Amino acid sequence: MRFLENFLLTDRNTLKLPSRARFFAAPETRDELHSLLNTVTARNLPVMVLGGGSNVVFAGDFQGLVLQPAMRGIRCIGETAGHYLVEAEAGEPWPDFVQYCLARNWYGLENLSLIPGTVGAAPIQNIGAYGVEITDRLHSLTALELATGRVREFSHADCRFGYRESVFKQDLRDRYIIARVRFLLQKKPVLKTAYADIQQELAVRGIDAPTPQQVATAVIAIRTRKLPSPAVLANAGSFFKNPVVSVAVLDEIKSRFPDVIAYPQADGAKLAAGWLIEKAGWKGRSIGPVGAYEKQALVLVNHGGATGADVIAVASAIQQAVTSMFGVQLEMEPRIYGI
Ligand code: FAD
Ligand code: EPU
Repeated sequence: MRFLENFLLTDRNTLKLPSRARFFAAPETRDELHSLLNTVTARNLPVMVLGGGSNVVFAGDFQGLVLQPAMRGIRCIGETAGHYLVEAEAGEPWPDFVQYCLARNWYGLENLSLIPGTVGAAPIQNIGAYGVEITDRLHSLTALELATGRVREFSHADCRFGYRESVFKQDLRDRYIIARVRFLLQKKPVLKTAYADIQQELAVRGIDAPTPQQVATAVIAIRTRKLPSPAVLANAGSFFKNPVVSVAVLDEIKSRFPDVIAYPQADGAKLAAGWLIEKAGWKGRSIGPVGAYEKQALVLVNHGGATGADVIAVASAIQQAVTSMFGVQLEMEPRIYGI
């Protein structure tokens, strides 16, 4: 298949950052992907895999091949007494996949409605929202080694999932392209509605025994209220992870800020990074075209015309402000390319 050259990526990332790829290709079939990887191996090209571009910051041009999987397809490939085994190709848009499953009564993904991006990227940071992460539903996946094109099957355990983490961000970073993912979805729904936002949304709608579709609709309504749509205001979702701190650190912060928002964890507490950023004075504040969103300080937005350097400058200023006020280091969630 043909490579496009000097390809502009501005419309391929939700922060709308200008960047160019020396080469670009979007394979639509498994065969195209295999033959592409053979070419890459032969030409010794650096490769970057790009999904929907909703969790990346382009801070420069990419002097290699940007490979965007465009393989589509969803099928049920097996079942047990309680579950369907559903396989989806990497290029399927995640929100459409969730709706497709719900429409067929394959349950368990409703809390993950409306998360942007692709099926192939979902395991990379173990996407999560409203009490469900894909580690709770993923069965296994198939990936190809970028350097050789060799196919490798990954079990759930092989993926080494954590909070916004997987082996693909750690030991195997930039080594594999995920080609298809398999999920175990419930025949009888087991709904997760404990999150306060979901409880409130269902109460407002007068629903006390929700269906999975009603949970999905509630999640979509909450997300639409809280998060800017990238189609309207460029952003990459939460820009930082919620930091996990020890009980001692939490107690120290609580002694100075009794209203700190924290969620207990096995080994300490997760702090609400949005709250930390708001307290540090950054909610709604900008430097040039980039700022912390006025309704959710954890989301950095590009009001128009920003570069990756502008985004990183604001992110660094926020990190410094939070560290100096709370002694806590915020870790960026999106992957930065080009620096
Ligand atoms: P990209 O941004 O294109 O890529 C992200 C990383 O994955 C890159 O390092 C890329 O190389 C790698 N990658 C992508 N596809 C593949 C593949 N097939 N094989 C190997 N590597 C690959 N995330 C959450 O977890 N929860 C949320 O609630 C959430 N809400 C969001 C809301 C908004 C408005 C936005 C803009 C983002 C949000 N995100 C959320 C972040 C983002 O949607 C997810 O991280 C998503 O999985 C990224 O998918 P993508 O296809 O856009 O990946
Ligand atoms: N908050 C503030 N000020 C702000 C923003 C938030 O005080 O400016 C407070 C909220 O009032 C709330 C708490 O912080 O009490 C948490 O906020 P929210 O419920 O909006 O969730 P979050 O922790 O900011 C996380 C995920 C989201 C996910 C939601 C729902 C991370 C980094 N972010 O956001 O994921 O959708 O929970 O589960 O874990 C993403 O990863 O890109 C993402 C959007």
